[in-house]
Amino acid sequence: MAVKLLVLNGPNLNRLGKREPEIYGHTTLEDIEENLQDVARKNDVQLTFFQSNTEGFLIDRIHAAADETVDGIIFNPGAYTHYSIALRDAIASVGVEVIEVHISNVHNREEFRRESVIAPVCRGQLTGFGADGYILALHAFLLKNKGECKL
Ligand code: DQA
Repeated sequence: MAVKLLVLNGPNLNRLGKREPEIYGHTTLEDIEENLQDVARKNDVQLTFFQSNTEGFLIDRIHAAADETVDGIIFNPGAYTHYSIALRDAIASVGVEVIEVHISNVHNREEFRRESVIAPVCRGQLTGFGADGYILALHAFLLKNKGECKL
């Protein structure tokens, strides 16, 4: 049976590729989604993508994911990571497994980025692996749901 995952991206991640490339690199969100889709095809994974700059839309999407009975969410909450209790509560309320992803290493940047209010309600956090972080998160879900991941 196909593994169903939602790939969720928060504020400013639609600007990847143009946005502070010295921190976030040159890979666009479209590139990231294509790379994920390539791995997904080889592994019988059904991916849905959603990006929003608005907290409420992200919350609504998390609720909808629970109703769609997804197997997991790969989530880069952007700056909401550091202060959105509402997103944290949304994750806690649905009981869907979430892996938090950050392109940059949030621990070697400004002090305020070191705290994630989201991480405690996630299965784990991948931070600092660039765009590969999304692929690593997909691997983690595949290893758990299928026991293997074909590259
Ligand atoms: C980010 C890190 C956040 O601190 C920042 O606000 C972002 C991107 C990352 O992917 O490295 O928007 O989530």
